[in-house]
Amino acid sequence: AKDMGEDLEKVLVTESRINARLGEMAAEIDADYAGKDLLLVGVLKGAVMVMADLARALHHPCEMDWMAVSSYGAGTTSSGVVRILKDLEIDINDRNVLIVEDVIDSGLTLSWLVGNLKSRGPASVEICTMVRKPLAFDVELDVRYVGFDLPNEFIVGYGLDYAEKYRNLPLIGTLAPHVYRS
Ligand code: PRP
Ligand code: MN
Ligand code: MG
Repeated sequence: AKDMGEDLEKVLVTESRINARLGEMAAEIDADYAGKDLLLVGVLKGAVMVMADLARALHHPCEMDWMAVSSYGAGTTSSGVVRILKDLEIDINDRNVLIVEDVIDSGLTLSWLVGNLKSRGPASVEICTMVRKPLAFDVELDVRYVGFDLPNEFIVGYGLDYAEKYRNLPLIGTLAPHVYRS
């Protein structure tokens, strides 16, 4: 198997910038949730990396649970159809829920998810995402913590996939055209 680096066109966010930003976001979250319970809800599979790193950067105690909702499949554009593939195991009634995402693109996944979680009677629901794309401003979505606002390009790495690959790149970048042709 060849090196994933050969498939990259450009690096948009380096590993060290990701780590630095995670530290800042964790400090904000620590301050905002002081004296409150905190339940991180990671959205599988893309949020695995940010969930693992953010949780370890927090000083505040937290619980973690996971949902799997998919709207993309193997393609590069959103279908707008959200399906629950795996639901939460923890009851979020009266809990402070912080949804953790790798990327908000069209915002369709999170618009739906926030509505779904709010119907379960939580004390609060906020959103933390490593990346936000410009289309997300077209939907009504209150995003409390944003790592990086990036342009509308197809990106991979740090959890973001192309046909399930490149999630384990420690950085965020774009793919070279030869990857899409093969
Ligand atoms: C991706 C990404 C977000 C969502 C964002 O997940 O991880 O969850 O799409 O897109 P949207 O804002 O346009 O709704 P995907 O459905 O590809 O599943 P994955 O996390 O397993 O890759
Ligand atoms: Mn996802
Ligand atoms: Mg995906």
